[in-house]
Amino acid sequence: MTTPIDFTPGSTVAVDMGRDLFVTGTDTGAGKTHVAVALLGALRARGQRASGMKPVASGCMRTAEGLRNEDALALIAASDPAPAYATCNPYAFEPPIAPHLAAHAVARRIELAPIRTAFEQLRARAGRVVVEGVGGWMAPLSDGLMQADLVRDLDLDVVLVVGLRLGCLNHALLSARAIAGDGCRLAGWIANHIDPAMAAVDDNIATLRARIDAPLLGQLAYGGTGFVAIDAAAP
Ligand SMILES: Nc1ncnc2c1ncn2[C@@H]1O[C@H](COP(=O)(O)OP(=O)(O)OP(=O)(O)O)[C@@H](O)[C@H]1O
Ligand SMILES: [Mg+2]
Repeated sequence: MTTPIDFTPGSTVAVDMGRDLFVTGTDTGAGKTHVAVALLGALRARGQRASGMKPVASGCMRTAEGLRNEDALALIAASDPAPAYATCNPYAFEPPIAPHLAAHAVARRIELAPIRTAFEQLRARAGRVVVEGVGGWMAPLSDGLMQADLVRDLDLDVVLVVGLRLGCLNHALLSARAIAGDGCRLAGWIANHIDPAMAAVDDNIATLRARIDAPLLGQLAYGGTGFVAIDAAAP
């Protein structure tokens, strides 16, 4: 059952509170981390324990402690309890390229088992896990592994972050179709206002509401960190 829940005054986002979430996006830079951090903050504000996970990350910094990824660090900072770095981000690669290529460059291969182990540790401590994907839905994890395989294996509900900019209708509708075609559950989508100059933004949102067979769960304003009422987008 999907229940609309007021997270903060004037804010509404509807997510089934019993399930773990996989945050995907219409593309890299659509706002997955921003939304995942907002979701974790909203859960914390409700007194729930939830941890973020970025199972696979490329574009990591070299530090004295090892490779560190900005997304994973942001998710850890937004988590309660805060996971150990390697549990949040079991696969970290330095070059900012597609992860299966980054893994190949260091003779590694991304596999499900270590991700599942880390996820189960997070779940045992936090109760609720918000997992951020890489790039868009069809970004591969290895020659034989897609993100859909991870989502099915961990039994996650998918949240699609639509980065509102020109071209997002095509990306959003293709993504929604692919998620369903892969046999995964699309819990809903988030309208993320990443372009303050986007024209006809409300009409774009209405177009997606009419065509995506899953609810608009919430919106993030440009520069916003909390969800705003979905009714603001009503056509
Ligand atoms: N609602 C918003 N308002 C303003 N800026 C935003 C918003 N959402 C995201 N951004 C900015 O857009 C950029 C991309 O966002 P974010 O890192 O969350 O995307 P992503 O989908 O997680 O990207 P990646 O594929 O690299 O993981 C960041 O600089 C972020 O601060
Ligand atoms: Mg990110």
